[in-house]
Amino acid sequence: MDICVIGAGYVGLVTSACLAYLGNHVTAVEANPERLGSLQKGLVPFFEPGLQEFVQQTSESGFLLFSDDLDQAVKRAQIIFIAVGTPSLPNGEPDLSQVMVVARSIGSALDAKHRRIIVNKSTVPVGSGNWVEMLVSQGVQNSQPVPARSARPEAPSFVVVSNPEFLREGSAIADSFYPDRIVVGSTDEQAIAVMKNLYKPIVNQSFDVPSLAPRPKDFSAVPFVVTDLASAELIKYSANAFLAMKISFANEIAGLCEKVGADVSQVTQGIGLDYRIGKAFLNAGVGWGGSCFGKDVSALMQVAKEYNYPTSLLEATVAVNERQRLVVIKKLQDELKILKGRTVGLMGLSFKPNTDDLRDAPALTIAYQLLKMGASVKAYDPVSNERCKILHPTLDIQYCDSSEDLASDTDALVLVTEWEQFKRLDWKKLAKSMRWPLLIDGRNALSEEDITLAGMTYRGVGR
Ligand SMILES: NC(=O)c1ccc[n+]([C@@H]2O[C@H](COP(=O)([O-])OP(=O)(O)OC[C@H]3O[C@@H](n4cnc5c(N)ncnc54)[C@H](O)[C@@H]3O)[C@@H](O)[C@H]2O)c1
Repeated sequence: MDICVIGAGYVGLVTSACLAYLGNHVTAVEANPERLGSLQKGLVPFFEPGLQEFVQQTSESGFLLFSDDLDQAVKRAQIIFIAVGTPSLPNGEPDLSQVMVVARSIGSALDAKHRRIIVNKSTVPVGSGNWVEMLVSQGVQNSQPVPARSARPEAPSFVVVSNPEFLREGSAIADSFYPDRIVVGSTDEQAIAVMKNLYKPIVNQSFDVPSLAPRPKDFSAVPFVVTDLASAELIKYSANAFLAMKISFANEIAGLCEKVGADVSQVTQGIGLDYRIGKAFLNAGVGWGGSCFGKDVSALMQVAKEYNYPTSLLEATVAVNERQRLVVIKKLQDELKILKGRTVGLMGLSFKPNTDDLRDAPALTIAYQLLKMGASVKAYDPVSNERCKILHPTLDIQYCDSSEDLASDTDALVLVTEWEQFKRLDWKKLAKSMRWPLLIDGRNALSEEDITLAGMTYRGVGR
C-alpha cells in the first residue's frame, strides 16, 4: 500500500519504518528541516534502541522515503497517518495546532482520484476525529477553484479514523511488531477493512521476524479492536491515566510503608501477584514523567471539565506524583541536614532508561529544586547530557562523562533513571571518591546490601 506518515518523531518514524518493513511504500513527511536533513542522510535525530539500523535498512530497501512535500506524499497515498505532536498548553489542554495545520494541508492536497483514509495516530481528545474531518473539508474547499456552473469538479472522498498508538519509548520497535492490541475507531466498513488489511501481518504475526526485534516467547495473534471514533480516542487517554494512577498508588503506599516500617517492594510484590492487579507499573520511586502521562492525564481532566464532570481520581494521581518527585529532597535533608553548599550527583536525566527523552523528566524537577535550595548539582546520563544542555540552557548543572566523574567530591548520589549500567557499578570505588557516601535510590532499583557493604548509606523509597 502507499502510505504517508506526517510527523517523523518518536511515533511517526517508528510507524513509518515498521510499515515499510512490512512491504508498504511509505513517505514520512517532516516539517522540521534539521530533523528532515538528518533523516535524509540516514541519521535518526534522537535515541531509540535499534531505530538507527532499522531506518537505514528500510530506507535502503527503497520502501521508506523522507520528504517535506506533504502535497505530493498525500496525493500518492491511500492511507495518511497524522503523527504530529500534541503537547500540553500551560492550562493543561492539549495544543492541537500541529494537528490543525496538518489536517487543513491534507484537505488542500486531496484529489478525487480515489478515496483516502486519514488516520489520527497522534493522541487527541475525544471528538477530534470529527474536528479533523471538518478541517480537512475546509482545506478541500479552500483549494477548489470556484466552479463554473456547468463544470462542477468531483469532490475528494475521504474518511477519518482513529488508531491510537501505545508504543513505549525505549522498546518502540518491539512494541510496534508485538503490541498487546491494535485499536481502530471508525464505523466506516471500507476503512475498517483497509486498516485490517494493513495490520494483517502484525495481527497474524505472519511477517519475517526482524533480527532487531525478536518475537517474544509464546507471542501469538494480536487482538484487533474495532470501536467507534470517540471510544478509540478515550481508550488511549484512559490507558495512560490508568498506568499513571497505578504508579501513584504504589507511591502513596510507599509513603505509608515508611511510616509503619513496611517495605513497599514486598507489598507491591504481594499485591501484584493477584492477576486482577498485575505486577507492572507498581514500582515506587520518584514518580512518572515523559511526553505522554502528564499531558494525557491533564487532557482527560480538561475533557471532563468541559462536561462539568469531576475527576477526583485523576487529580489525586497528579497530586501524588508532584509530591513524589520531591521525596528525594526530603531524604537528602534528613541525612545531610543542610543542603546549601552541598553537591548532589544525579544519576540519569531522561524520564526513563533507553531513551533520551527529557519531556517532563523527574530529574529536571529535582535539579531545579536542589539549585533553588542552594545546592550544586552534577548529572550524568548515558545518552541525554547533550540534549539536556541544548533544551535546558538555563539549568546550571555540571555535566559528567561517567558515574566515576559524577561521584567524585559529591555529598550524595541520587539514582533518578534506572539505566542498566547504574546497576553494575563498583560502589566501593565510588564511595571512596565521595565527600559523604550517601545514596538515595529514587527507583528502588539497586541492591541495598551491595551498597551498604561498600560502606555507603542507602535510602530507598518506601523501604
Ligand atoms: N512518544 C511516545 O512515546 C508516544 C506514544 C504514544 C503516543 N504518542 C503520541 O503521538 C504523537 C506524536 O508524539 P511524538 O513523541 O512522536 O512527538 P514528536 O514531537 O517527537 O514528533 C512530532 C513530529 O511532527 C513534526 N511535525 C509537526 N508539524 C508538522 C507538519 N506540519 N508537517 C510535518 N511534520 C510536522 C515535528 O517536527 C516532529 O518531528 C503525540 O500526540 C503523542 O502524544 C507518543
